[in-house]
Amino acid sequence: MKISSIGVLTSGGDAPGMNSSIRSIVRAGLQRGLRVMGIYHGYSGLMAGDFVELDAQSVSNIIQRGGTILKTDRAKEFRTPAGRKRAAEAIAANDVDALVVIGGNGTFQGAELLSQEHNIPVIGVPSTIDNDLYGTDWTIGYDTAVNTAIYNIDKIRDTAEALERTFYIEVMGRATGFIALDVGLATGAEYIAIPERETRLDVVLKLFERQRATKRSNIIIVAEGETPGTSALEIAEKVKQMNGMDYRITILGHIQRGGSPTARDRILASRLGAFAVDELLAGSSSVMVGEQRGSLCTTPLKESFTRMKPIHEDLVQLSGLLSA
Ligand code: F6P
Repeated sequence: MKISSIGVLTSGGDAPGMNSSIRSIVRAGLQRGLRVMGIYHGYSGLMAGDFVELDAQSVSNIIQRGGTILKTDRAKEFRTPAGRKRAAEAIAANDVDALVVIGGNGTFQGAELLSQEHNIPVIGVPSTIDNDLYGTDWTIGYDTAVNTAIYNIDKIRDTAEALERTFYIEVMGRATGFIALDVGLATGAEYIAIPERETRLDVVLKLFERQRATKRSNIIIVAEGETPGTSALEIAEKVKQMNGMDYRITILGHIQRGGSPTARDRILASRLGAFAVDELLAGSSSVMVGEQRGSLCTTPLKESFTRMKPIHEDLVQLSGLLSA
């Protein structure tokens, strides 16, 4: 199938670097002689036919901006066959031959179904702060989110140290502990609780007991997780009931999703965006582009969200070793 026109959209939770990806896809597409259509508001805009033609100038000065100029959303209707049929009709009505979707696992699940049901070539560009997609070492936005969390936790350490307090700090990451693990290691956290490992309250208690005489502050990093009973507040309360230790809680929340992308995220987004265009033109479909050990690669879209990306076991061990 000859591709002469592509559509690009962002979907799901925004991530720093989405704009850098849009810029790369638009400019690489134009350089390859394609017409590039931007689709507003993720899959909602796709179903509603909210398309606009983009030129090189329309993506000027966005490489450094957080959020997404195309807006994003989580569209429930797109999860239904009827919603995807509406989307396929809008794609045909706008003479778009193929799609590049920028987002995370929910985005890719929808893209895979659209592609299979309506024979539309689709490429996924991994962009989520969670870093939870199989087939790429890093997702766009993850590095910025980690650095934002570290920047803020360093400030919390100052006040924790001054008042000799224990802080439980909850970071994002939905069902995975990638952010928590990196952030915990980089801030010298005393303990890191992640969904991939059982939270060892006995270890936390022993740690506090050992450190009572010497330590001035404690930082416990907790990945938000989805399992009831594992929030920062719940863990802090359980520990307090056992040893009476007072605490403070900070939930970093959506600040981790905003801000100017780091150099690493801008470069990753620029590489993956242009690569996605070239892969489409080379005939690829239903794949996610990614970077593994510094090299660009593709992974079947379905694998990106069905296979579990393992947490770095060596970092788990190292964090325990260094939390003396
Ligand atoms: O998937 C990205 C993410 O930021 C998760 O880490 C978090 O659980 C979720 O999105 C929050 O979603 P919302 O912005 O809809 O509250």
